[in-house]
Amino acid sequence: MLKLKNKKDIEKIRSSGKILAETFEIIKEQIKPGITTKDIDDITYNYINKCKAKPAFKGYMGYPASICISLNDEVIHGIPSSRILTDGDIVSLDLGVNLDGYISDSAITLPCGKISEGNMLLIKVTEECLYKGIEMAAAGNRVSDISKAVFFHAKKYNFGVVREFCGHGVGFNLHEEPQIPNYIGSGSNPRLKPGMVIAIEPMINAGGDDIYILDDKWTVKTADNSYSAHFEHTVAILEDKAEILTCL
Ligand code: MF3
Ligand code: CO
Repeated sequence: MLKLKNKKDIEKIRSSGKILAETFEIIKEQIKPGITTKDIDDITYNYINKCKAKPAFKGYMGYPASICISLNDEVIHGIPSSRILTDGDIVSLDLGVNLDGYISDSAITLPCGKISEGNMLLIKVTEECLYKGIEMAAAGNRVSDISKAVFFHAKKYNFGVVREFCGHGVGFNLHEEPQIPNYIGSGSNPRLKPGMVIAIEPMINAGGDDIYILDDKWTVKTADNSYSAHFEHTVAILEDKAEILTCL
């Protein structure tokens, strides 16, 4: 059974989400040619640790780092390494924070240096997909109302929508019920209720929908090597709208 969050729980997830948003602000200033993805992972770990919180992904299903950093045709779950960012890269950052057992989850895609017009559009549309989804995240609506809003906005631009990974409930654990797909499927389609906290996370490709997983068992890439963007917020479902919890 799905355990709803009370006011105090939501307050704690908001505090967790604030630390997450602050971490992104610090990282943003460092996204430039020359930095390694491992450097970004260190910055992430150090800031979260300073806030007396924990990186929620570290150790989750054996994941070895604090943050996921996925470049260019990588969709999600890129593992930080000695790889160096170069001019023109698009950099997806996905982070979870655990503050006293309360989990928040958020993602952004940033340009490194000067990126192409096409990649700028991909990033802009993916972020718009997230906000279209959030607009539909009100009590009484169904999960599919979010999925449709994300999907049709992406398809207006002929972009690919990743089907193998979804948004999800979040708060007491990193992944809770319900799943929040970015496409219209035939799965269970619950109604949204006040007290639900969900992560909405469109993963949008400049080319086709399809993906594959690298031999490292984590990194997800587009099948056609087209570039991919990812945005995510943790939101609380209120009576008439959603409240974003992963913000400053
Ligand atoms: N960030 C992913 C999500 O949004 C989960 C990452 S899995 C991990 O659901 F293993 F990297 F932590
Ligand atoms: Co997530």
